Amino acid sequence: MILERLSIINFKNIENVELTLTAGINCFVGDNGAGKTNILDAVHYLSAARSMHTITDQQSVRHGEEYFLLDGILHHDDNRPEQLVCSYTRRGGKTLKRNGKEYDKLSDHVGCMPIVIVSPADSSLISDSAEERRRYFNRLISTLDRGYLAALIRYNATLAERNKLLKANPSEEMLLIYDQMLSSSADVIYNRRSDIIKQLRPLVEEYYALLSECREQIDIEYRSELQTAPLSELLLASRQRDFVNEFTSSGIHRDDVIFSIGGFPLRKFGSQGQQKSFLIALKLAEYALLSKHSDERPILLLDDLFDKLDMRRVAQLLRLVGGSDFGQILITDCNKHRLQHTLDDAGAEYRLLHITNGNIEL
Ligand SMILES: Nc1ncnc2c1ncn2[C@@H]1O[C@H](COP(=O)(O)OP(=O)(O)OP(=O)(O)O)[C@@H](O)[C@H]1O
Ligand SMILES: [Mg+2]
Repeated sequence: MILERLSIINFKNIENVELTLTAGINCFVGDNGAGKTNILDAVHYLSAARSMHTITDQQSVRHGEEYFLLDGILHHDDNRPEQLVCSYTRRGGKTLKRNGKEYDKLSDHVGCMPIVIVSPADSSLISDSAEERRRYFNRLISTLDRGYLAALIRYNATLAERNKLLKANPSEEMLLIYDQMLSSSADVIYNRRSDIIKQLRPLVEEYYALLSECREQIDIEYRSELQTAPLSELLLASRQRDFVNEFTSSGIHRDDVIFSIGGFPLRKFGSQGQQKSFLIALKLAEYALLSKHSDERPILLLDDLFDKLDMRRVAQLLRLVGGSDFGQILITDCNKHRLQHTLDDAGAEYRLLHITNGNIEL
């Protein structure tokens, strides 16, 4: 899939920009604060109807303005053209239109414009708690499988009910009903998580080996209590503890995914560049899964390309994504000469766009 044109109005520091993009590598260069990441975020809005940062729609409207409007023309791999328009007004809220028709539910748009982002903010996947990793995998698996999202919503609703019930001194029979409901949604989630991590694991390993030129060995492993027993048994075993603590202490809401390097935890033993390489390998593996799933190559967004990487790894990355498995790529960097030099070295074709104060310099 290719984003051919993008028009951005009143989005953060961008007042009015019209972009025409190439099918290959598009590079946005400019100083800190110029608006490079904002352009990638506009692309993210068209894909997910929200910012890639944890900010509200309100905060994405240019200061002093009433609305923002993002209008993109896509060209799908099967030659279908498509128009996506995402707009937000401070008074009227947000709408997303596909070929002129407004979505009833924004969630119906999930998966229609697949993108993969590599950004400095990814480091929270390694440094933060298990919740952050669960959120990432939940989002990825939901894109691949709508049944997963439905099971997750059911699970969370039942879990909240069970926790409420535990405070109200419920009967054993009542709890058993909730345990059964939790277990049936948990099975769907557990099986899907196991399956996706199994598919991702060799891909992450392979991409990491290519990026690092086989310098280190990494691993990714799913960890769930459900690997030891079915949830119904775990809930029964922890029932007394749950009564005392007044919350559900077992379940897939406690799952984690363990990242390691050379057999040790990546968070503690990986250097910054190794951690960054791992995150890129994970995102490229995500890219491979998404393109296999939808028969369409997602758009790859590489924000702040040189963040924590040495020249050698950046060159490897560019060689890798310049291959035919990858489609359109949007790159940002604040150092034009370094970027040009590395792209030229990798033998890549690219287009350079200069950003200054939210404007494209011609
Ligand atoms: N709602 C808003 N209205 C106006 N300006 C905004 C708004 N939100 C963010 N900005 C401005 O956008 C700029 C940040 O842009 P962006 O993050 O795209 O920079 P960048 O080019 O990626 O810089 P860096 O190289 O530091 O990553 C900042 O100057 C910020 O003040
Ligand atoms: Mg930036």
